[in-house]
Amino acid sequence: MTASSSAVIDPGASAACASPPLVLDRCRVLVRPALAEAVGRLHPWVGEMAAYSLGWCEVGGAPAAGSGGKGLRQALAVLGAEAAGAPARAGVAAAVAVELVHTFSLLHDDIMDGDPTRRRRPTVWKAYGTGPAVLAGDGLFALAVETLAEAPGGAPGVRLLSGALTELVRGQADDLLFAARPWSGPERVRPAAYRAMAEGKTGALLGCAAALGAVLGGAPQSAVTALERAGRHLGVAFQVVDDMLGIWGDPAVTGKPVHGDLREGKKTFPVLAALASPGPAARRLAVLLESDGDPAEAAALVEEAGGRAAALAEARRQTAAVRAALAGAPLRAPAVDELRSLLDFLVRRDL
Ligand code: IPE
Ligand code: MG
Ligand code: MG
Repeated sequence: MTASSSAVIDPGASAACASPPLVLDRCRVLVRPALAEAVGRLHPWVGEMAAYSLGWCEVGGAPAAGSGGKGLRQALAVLGAEAAGAPARAGVAAAVAVELVHTFSLLHDDIMDGDPTRRRRPTVWKAYGTGPAVLAGDGLFALAVETLAEAPGGAPGVRLLSGALTELVRGQADDLLFAARPWSGPERVRPAAYRAMAEGKTGALLGCAAALGAVLGGAPQSAVTALERAGRHLGVAFQVVDDMLGIWGDPAVTGKPVHGDLREGKKTFPVLAALASPGPAARRLAVLLESDGDPAEAAALVEEAGGRAAALAEARRQTAAVRAALAGAPLRAPAVDELRSLLDFLVRRDL
């Protein structure tokens, strides 16, 4: 996505948020020692795969130069605790747990999707083998549950996390099944089904991340519910923006191949919305997709059929729902403002 198109996703976003907000660094520094301590409990080989996956080391264990992922989920957990009036340290166990679960889910997702690279490096299954990668994912998952179970007041947190994981599995299952569904006819995937899938595979864990710190911090139910709802909508917005970047993003910036999702025939929101529109462009698009036609032509038809505009509208609706959830709850500044700055960054990212 170009800077100009990302700017129209969320007109409420401030221009200052085009680069990662400082809160991501603050939370990463706060959480890193506990996360490293947890990873250090794993079998050394499994621990190396976990550290590789987190971007901390190269294959073989030498320290890595890069900083890994954005650390969004750990930041949501810390800010959720603070926004609910608890100290940041109350959110650290929650942050460690969600970061471990996120890493586990990506590790297994890359096997499911057959993806050879992530963040410009070989995926864990490519670098270490599929069996070891499955094991590393299992290890990270077990460690996440252990971390939460050991935290003061952790039992409701374990319940929240396991509920989110059940939904994540449901979303991943639909995502995998969607791949075999046709582009047209009664069996086609409709935008509403996509929304439910995205809420499951991405939104559930983001909602859990935002709510978990507040749960461990002993926040009232109204604050927990609002944070969870905000995180879920953020997840769907994030996924729709991701889909747009997959079609119209600059590969030099996204690190993904140009039109990769179209070439793989992925059921992304802009494409599904385009197909659901009336008119000749949608019909031509369906024919083209069914015959594995030129991805660049498909991208142009998605735009002509209104898929890009519909995706922008969807991202805006979801970000408005995040803002509404945050506005209607007993949440405290400055943490709630930092949550908003994260939202601005995520829907405007051109990473
Ligand atoms: C990943 O979804 C969702 C989970 C890990 C649960 P995708 O497969 O669409 O995301 P990327 O493109 O691999 O990150
Ligand atoms: Mg994937
Ligand atoms: Mg996937």
